[in-house]
Amino acid sequence: MSYLMSNYAPLPVTFTKGNGCYLTDNNGLVYLDALCGVAVTGLGHSHPKISEAIQSQAQQLLHTSNWYHIQQQETLAETLCKLADMDAAFFCNSGAEANEAAIKIARLHARANQINEPIILTAKQSFHGRTMATLSATGNSKVQAGFAPLVSEFIHVNFNDVEAIQKYESNPRIVAVMLEPIQGESGVIVPDADYLNHVQEICQKNNWLLILDEVQTGIGRTGKMFAHQYNQITPDILTLAKGLGNGVPIGACIAKGDAAKLLTPGTHGSTFGGNPLVCRVASTVLDVIKQDNLLNNVNVMSDYIVSSFTEKLKAVDSVLEIRAKGLMIAIELTKECTQLLQQALDKKLLINITGQSIRLLPPLIINKEQADEMIDIICELVSQL
Ligand SMILES: Cc1ncc(COP(=O)(O)O)c(C=O)c1O
Repeated sequence: MSYLMSNYAPLPVTFTKGNGCYLTDNNGLVYLDALCGVAVTGLGHSHPKISEAIQSQAQQLLHTSNWYHIQQQETLAETLCKLADMDAAFFCNSGAEANEAAIKIARLHARANQINEPIILTAKQSFHGRTMATLSATGNSKVQAGFAPLVSEFIHVNFNDVEAIQKYESNPRIVAVMLEPIQGESGVIVPDADYLNHVQEICQKNNWLLILDEVQTGIGRTGKMFAHQYNQITPDILTLAKGLGNGVPIGACIAKGDAAKLLTPGTHGSTFGGNPLVCRVASTVLDVIKQDNLLNNVNVMSDYIVSSFTEKLKAVDSVLEIRAKGLMIAIELTKECTQLLQQALDKKLLINITGQSIRLLPPLIINKEQADEMIDIICELVSQL
């Protein structure tokens, strides 16, 4: 009997230890983690510099309040703003909260422009979180089922379809477009290379905010610090979480220009958001990514993994497509493959299944031997389908 609510259906395994790309369960069995707690532990488990930052900060100060100045927050905000060419950051505890802040800023942008019933365009098959506003923004009826009435006003348009957004240019109620640069939860959907550039042009022309949800794609996951940097654009609002804390809960909503000035005292806040512990850890995550040149490792390992899969799976009929950007990788199959989750676990590999796709989000620190281990297990399982 469990005293937990039933909103998760966990696999029958309990991990007690982690080290680098590996996890150990309570029977001492070791697993290769090709999921990273869903794009969170990019630096792997028990990274010495992260453990040291946690320990040393815990011995000094865990929490005060946003009613007082927090130096670790200032330092992290400056680093993130410089990395992303943005002006100001708000810190919270999760991706959904980062998106909530972005949505609230879009509503304030509407007020500032005398738009009383603002609408935000988001994409079909998107995922932005599980709070009421973010599940309403999410373009997936399964996430919304049972929770009506939803938060209005979001309109869901086709992803990777510039005309679908252009169609709304004459609608004076639109105030923002909110997108993932690559859709993660729907199975690594990579849009055309210039999609975001076109969307930004439309936003600039109409005084709409461009909100990019990089909760999953950010912090090196795609081989750039932020996925939108492939497009050489800067959004008005950028949201981050997951890999930013490598396992400590932190989210960030970062804004540029006028959007960075809309939150004023009393308009938004969080008790825990941006406390000294999480900010110190997040700054350490960013330091390690730079010092260890991890973006380069992501790109080298991505090329290696994708070319290995392409070669080894080319004769396998059940493989429809391989999609990837950096270490966001999906192998789409011709049929349902949920059984692969348990089969991979039996072979001591952690993966995700999204629809008909195997989704892999291995650590940014993965090396060639570990990649080979992952590739071999996946190829064996897929070939037996
Ligand atoms: C793109 C994106 N946005 C938002 C979220 C929600 O983040 P969290 O679960 O931290 O609230 C996720 C989580 O998977 C995500 O992938």
